[in-house]
Amino acid sequence: MASDSTIPADLADPEPQVRVRHLNKRDLNRTWEFIKAVFREVNRSTVEYQRPKSKKRFLEVFDEKGIEQLLFVIRVGGKERIVGYAECALTIIGTDNWMNERYFRARDMRPLFVEELAVDPEFQGRGLGTFVLEQLEHLARLRGCTHLVLEVAENNENALKFYRGRAFTKLDAAIFLAKTVVSDPEILPPRRLKRREPKTRTAATSATAPADPKETPPEG
Ligand SMILES: CC(C)(COP(=O)(O)OP(=O)(O)OC[C@H]1O[C@@H](n2cnc3c(N)ncnc32)[C@H](O)[C@@H]1OP(=O)(O)O)[C@@H](O)C(=O)NCCC(=O)NCCS
Repeated sequence: MASDSTIPADLADPEPQVRVRHLNKRDLNRTWEFIKAVFREVNRSTVEYQRPKSKKRFLEVFDEKGIEQLLFVIRVGGKERIVGYAECALTIIGTDNWMNERYFRARDMRPLFVEELAVDPEFQGRGLGTFVLEQLEHLARLRGCTHLVLEVAENNENALKFYRGRAFTKLDAAIFLAKTVVSDPEILPPRRLKRREPKTRTAATSATAPADPKETPPEG
């Protein structure tokens, strides 16, 4: 299949129609490339990696039960182009997840966990993220969930502004703290060596210098 970059720019519709569909196995490679491209900039400035961390994990997710993966696509010049992606689950997935299920149970919350939300940078600011979120909220209602729950880096300012403007509020969550540890460098600074004195010649020494008393034969 031709890559999205082969679609001529002049075929672009100024008001394209975005369709939602479930992700199929044959979409995996280009969806991974799409997610990587969307998060390239975000990952440069955040402490945490946005999930999925690796292609291997992304491919595993497809086979995991209880995870829904949605593609938002447009048609350009007869070809499909991915412009958005969303991933959600009814339970906490993965072994490296920071979320504690008991937190939600104790508060009678039945969350739909939003694992991923990504919009093509070329299409950001045009209402697509809002559409993705509405689709997720629609799913949450259908599945009997009470909340959408997601994780976002505090310095991912665009995304944070986006969520805050759409009635998301902060849960009790981890804050990354750091303190500078003052210490001396492990490696000592460079050092100049002493000049080596020129070696004295033995013959000259015996002719001029006083003899070592220990080497002088006893008199008599
Ligand atoms: C956050 C994100 C999903 C928003 O998608 P979007 O299609 O730009 O959203 P919309 O067009 O529906 O809404 C735009 C709103 O989001 C904000 N926004 C976020 N990123 C923006 C961008 N690059 N350009 C313009 N507006 C942006 C705007 O402030 C605007 O807010 P307002 O409508 O309250 O005034 C999208 O920026 C994105 O995919 N970012 C990179 C991946 C990411 O960080 N995902 C979230 C990880 S948890």
